[in-house]
Amino acid sequence: MTSDRSLPSGFTLWAFNSVGSTNDEARRLATGGAPDGTVVWARQQTKGRGRRGREWVSPPGNLFCSIILRPDCSVSVAAQLSFVSAISLIEAVESAATEKSVDVRGKWPNDVLVNGRKVAGILLECQSRESSGGNSTECAWIIIGAGVNVANHPADTEFPATSLAAEIGQSVAPERVLESYVESLSVWRGRWREYGFSAIREEWLKRAAGLGGTITVRLPTETLDGRFDGLDESGALVLESEGRRRHITSADVFFGNRV
Ligand code: BTN
Repeated sequence: MTSDRSLPSGFTLWAFNSVGSTNDEARRLATGGAPDGTVVWARQQTKGRGRRGREWVSPPGNLFCSIILRPDCSVSVAAQLSFVSAISLIEAVESAATEKSVDVRGKWPNDVLVNGRKVAGILLECQSRESSGGNSTECAWIIIGAGVNVANHPADTEFPATSLAAEIGQSVAPERVLESYVESLSVWRGRWREYGFSAIREEWLKRAAGLGGTITVRLPTETLDGRFDGLDESGALVLESEGRRRHITSADVFFGNRV
């Protein structure tokens, strides 16, 4: 079903009470030709997915949404949109916390922390035009799935989690967070188009958790300790470890040394 909840120009909302995963609904719509700016929002998910095939527990009260974009660029450039989304989520979380000052930061690659605990995550899925017959790495569409722990958060996660309600001590409507997120996304996507990734990288680094500090980076085959030195021009994490600068494209990050 569609709804006329207020979104910026160029964005259209598909609102559901319950779906398996908003990313799956968005994929179905994108495959059927849904335009750039299609927003899928559900009050709950029964099969919410996180990064690396993890489950994303999705009870009512939290925000679950997936946005279809059709950027005119390669798949690897389109992946920069995860940082556009992370900055927009940071702004949306900040604007929900009007009553209490909270520390909102991005955690590489694209989580959002409030007071050092995870409040939101992003799951990016991109389709190249290859599969429609050609041999290109151009992006046909990208789905940016975002989950925000507005009212509830899971217990016993490897990286500690929290919710907006727990941190700001008041309840917030998920649709309010959705509206400010899409509003910010529209602005930051415009800046990305106009100024490129450098503007996004600069803004994200201003809000980065752990920058300059010691981090532990868990890769599929090894775990490294080192100093978080920034992002390179593609968004990879730059780690100074044992005298080498390593560019990490995919990993789980923890703060401090391993114990
Ligand atoms: C992560 O931190 O692992 C990413 C979590 C992404 C969860 C969101 S909720 C909306 C969208 N639908 C899904 O199934 N997953 C993403």
